[in-house]
Amino acid sequence: MSGQPTPTAFTRHTGAKVPLICGAMYPCSNPELIAAVSAAGGLGVVQPLSMIYVYKRDLRAGLREIKRVTDGPIGFNAIVEKSSKVYEDRMRKWVDVALDEGVRFFVTALGNPRWVVDAVHAVGGVVYHDVTERKWAQKALDGGVDGLICVNRRAGGHAGNQDPRALYESLADLGVPLVCAGGIGDERRFVEALDIGYAAVQLGTRFIASDECLAHNDYKRAIVGAKADDIVLSERISGVPVAVIETEYVRAIGTKAGPVARRLLKHPKAKHWMRAFYSLRSLWQLKNASLEGTSYKNYFQAGRSVDGIDAVEPAGTIVARYAAALVEAQTQPASPAKAGPAE
Ligand SMILES: Cc1cc2nc3c(=O)[nH]c(=O)nc-3n(C[C@H](O)[C@H](O)[C@H](O)COP(=O)(O)O)c2cc1C
Repeated sequence: MSGQPTPTAFTRHTGAKVPLICGAMYPCSNPELIAAVSAAGGLGVVQPLSMIYVYKRDLRAGLREIKRVTDGPIGFNAIVEKSSKVYEDRMRKWVDVALDEGVRFFVTALGNPRWVVDAVHAVGGVVYHDVTERKWAQKALDGGVDGLICVNRRAGGHAGNQDPRALYESLADLGVPLVCAGGIGDERRFVEALDIGYAAVQLGTRFIASDECLAHNDYKRAIVGAKADDIVLSERISGVPVAVIETEYVRAIGTKAGPVARRLLKHPKAKHWMRAFYSLRSLWQLKNASLEGTSYKNYFQAGRSVDGIDAVEPAGTIVARYAAALVEAQTQPASPAKAGPAE
């Protein structure tokens, strides 16, 4: 890379050289992938359920393994939903381990991030929260977060419902760094997101199709072969819409939760049990689909970012190419990115 991208509020918060996150992915965040992204100047985020239950690492040992490869910054994904006391207690312990091992960037999702914010701010770290709309952004800011991961309708995982630009415009006045999550599969869209004013981007699908990701080759090939129109939202995995590639299997079984499941998901008492059931089942199904490929008839999660993804590449090559495109855009006299992204 000739030169470095212009610093943003995100790179100043985290110490990353490139304003690019490899987002947490259950079940695709393996330690080798996270390390490769952070070593290349981006920021890889640890997904604790992936680390512990899919890749069978003790959390502390896994974090140390990454730190042996790179001293670049890494992040930690704390899903703070209060669906089970056992899960919540476990998450509190994991956050303590991550802080103890020097992690200073946290991405929270779903619930009230306040307890994570208190623990992280006490040691000088920062917390960004996943949001899909202004209502959740305001709640997260009330919880004390330092930035927002703005999940748009093109995202993999649990997608939002707004376009990247509309979502940016609806949140820009909140005065914290905004990260664009969703739909970025090539460097042109990366540069575009920073031009809009985002302080960084978060990629998921792009990094599944990388050499270091341990997902099955069938899964990587499916991403390389898919177009945006092949992505559908399925409620059948977790009870809420998840973006998946419309394989023959997905077409055959449909994308709607069954009528009984839908009723139970709305029921005031049963909904907690139903969510717990879906959560456990989806952890198992997604793990098998990711590791066993098409021999296991199931789901390949991916965002509309598949459009820009033409090859499986080393994660470091992806980060370097995106960074080079940004530096080039920022050194062109007429480019809006020249002044650096808005903060
Ligand atoms: C397979 C997969 C699993 C994901 N799992 C998580 C997760 O466990 N926690 C989380 O906060 N986001 C999760 N996400 C969202 C990503 O971190 C990221 O925001 C999203 O993938 C960005 O959209 P893109 O895939 O179009 O790049 C997941 C996304 C994918 C594709």
